[in-house]
Order: sequence, then C-alpha cells, then structure tokens
Amino acid sequence: MLTGIPNTSGSVEWQSPANIALVKYWGKRPVQWPMNPSLSFVLKESVVRIRMDYEIGADIDFHLRGFSLNGQDNEAFAGRIERYLSGLSTFFPFLRHARLSIHSHSSFPHSAGIASSAAAFSALALCVGSIEARMTGKEESGSEFLRKASFMARLGSGSACRSLWGGMVIWGHTKWVAGSSDDHGCRLDEGAVHEDFRQLNDAVLIVDSRTKKVSSSEGHALMHTHPFRKQRVEQAGHNMERILGALRSGHMDLFGEVMENEALSLHSLMMSSTPGYILMHPNTILMIDRIRSFRQRTHTPAYLTLDAGPNIHLIYPASHKEAVRGFIVEELSSLCEDGRWIDDRMGEGPVALG
Ligand code: PMV
Repeated sequence: MLTGIPNTSGSVEWQSPANIALVKYWGKRPVQWPMNPSLSFVLKESVVRIRMDYEIGADIDFHLRGFSLNGQDNEAFAGRIERYLSGLSTFFPFLRHARLSIHSHSSFPHSAGIASSAAAFSALALCVGSIEARMTGKEESGSEFLRKASFMARLGSGSACRSLWGGMVIWGHTKWVAGSSDDHGCRLDEGAVHEDFRQLNDAVLIVDSRTKKVSSSEGHALMHTHPFRKQRVEQAGHNMERILGALRSGHMDLFGEVMENEALSLHSLMMSSTPGYILMHPNTILMIDRIRSFRQRTHTPAYLTLDAGPNIHLIYPASHKEAVRGFIVEELSSLCEDGRWIDDRMGEGPVALG
C-alpha cells in the first residue's frame, strides 16, 4: 500500500493471450460477475503486446495521452481504455495521478473471430499491476500478483480474467474446484488434467470476419430476462462437473461431447432470447456437419466450439495434427472466408517483456 504519491516515471510491457472457452460464460451479474462458472485455455499465437509508459506525480491528474494499435492511433478504443483505467483507480489510487501512453500490438487481425478483448484487458491489467509492484517493491509474478491482475482484467472484459495462466483455467465458483471464485480466474492443478489434454491444437476457421450484428455485451444482457436462464445455470454446472471428470480421467469423447454441447447451447440461447438472433452462417452449419462426419468416419478426436460468432474453433490433440490438417485443407478451407484459417494451439500464458 502506498502512502503519498511519489514522483516517478517508467515503462512496463506485457504480452498476453486470447483464450477459448470450453464451458461458456453467458450472462452476468453486476459488477461483471458470471451467472455460471466457465472453463477455457489460452492460445499460443493469438496474443496482444502492450507497452505502457507512465509518469506519476502528486500534481498530475489521470490522463491517457495516447493509445495506438499496431502503430496507428486508435481513438475508438482509447475511450473504452480510458474509462476502464480510470475505474481501476479505486484499487490502484496512484492511477488518479498518472499520465499514461499505451502502445499495443495484436498478432491476429482484429476481426479474425478471436476475442482480442481478453488478450488486451489482461495485458492492461498486468501493466497496471507491474507499475504498482515497481512503486512498492513487490514481486511482478507469483500467484498473488496474477490473481489480482485477473480480478482487474475481469472488470474490463469478463473472459479476460481467464487469460492469466497456461493450461486449463476456471472462472466462477464451483464446489468441484477448491479456490475457484467469481472474482478471478483460477488455474486447474496439473493433477486435475490428464496428459492427453496438455497439448491441444485449435484451428480457427474464419467463416465471416465482419463485425457481429449483436455484441457479446448485448447477448449477456438478454440473459437477464431469458426464459431458460435458470436451466442454463443448471446446465453449465452439470457440464462443468462432466468436463472436469473427463479432464481428470482422460475421457476424450466425453470432453468433446460437453464442449460441443456448450457451443450449440450458447447459440440456442441466442436464438431463444427476446429478441432472438442467429450469429451462425450457412457455412458454419455445413462445417459442423462435415466435422461430425469426419470424426465418425475416421475416429479422429476433433471437436468444435464456437464463441459468440459464426467462426469455428476445431480443437484436437496435437498428436492428430496431420490427419486434421489434411481434413481442413480438403473439406473445410473452401467454406472459410477467402480460405482463411488460423493454426493455433494451447499456450503457456502471459510473458513479461519489460
Ligand atoms: O468476456 P466477454 O464479455 O467478451 O464474453 C465472452 C463470452 C463468450 O466468449 C461467448 C464465452 C466465454 O466464456 O468466453
């Protein structure tokens, strides 16, 4: 804890990954607490790098001097970031006296069907945590530091709180995982994850890269009055129990069954809300069909999930890379927008760059 505001300046830099949910967070309570627990893993190649230059002094008022994305000033995003950082001053009082400049670089195209907000808000939270650590002489690593960063990332974008660790990460309290919390993410112990699930690949199949008709924030809000709200909470709890069991025992089929059930349930909730809406495209449905028949035909453990959009994440153990790549090239890439897909895999979490 700081007493008084010292005059100081410097620069911090973090790289943080996007994550893909297997059990979906859908619907929230104020302030950004989830309606149900969710589970995800972070990606290796889909990352955002953020450098934050700071000047802090008693006579400075909070101010974001500039925000750039891939070398270009980005005023649209700057407003959201400024509001977010100003809100964090409740937890980091020094921010009230900070002048900041933020430079961010994304390794993946903004509209590639990968949620960039999880990577961006987790990197921002880590940068603010690092500034505090440098001012107080605390460590910029370790479980306490990451838990606090996860708490802060959650306030920017709920799913961002799951981007702080490699391996499988859970967010939301569940009796099945000690230490799980609605406040922040929590990494599953190695012992809770069978080795068959430690090297998963994720092929992101881009069906449509345009901005969605209905944003995730609007989708979360529609869950307040959703006729299946109660059932969804029960279903997510049940699916969490089943997928945790599958992860522990190495039951690949059950893992895939739960993952696909979660993806299609998420989209059913969108269709059955008021007003209802559909984010899947005809090619999304065609791909789902082809993936399921490929699996039946070849017994390859490749399963799909979808975020709140039309693009498919095809998840499979790295040991089946050749077969799945051949399948994508022969049967799926022609259904992708301009043949585009991203070859990604499970990553190890954020990296401190400076
Ligand atoms: O964190 P948000 O508000 O972008 O919501 C994410 C919602 C889903 O991606 C659909 C599911 C999830 O758990 O990531």
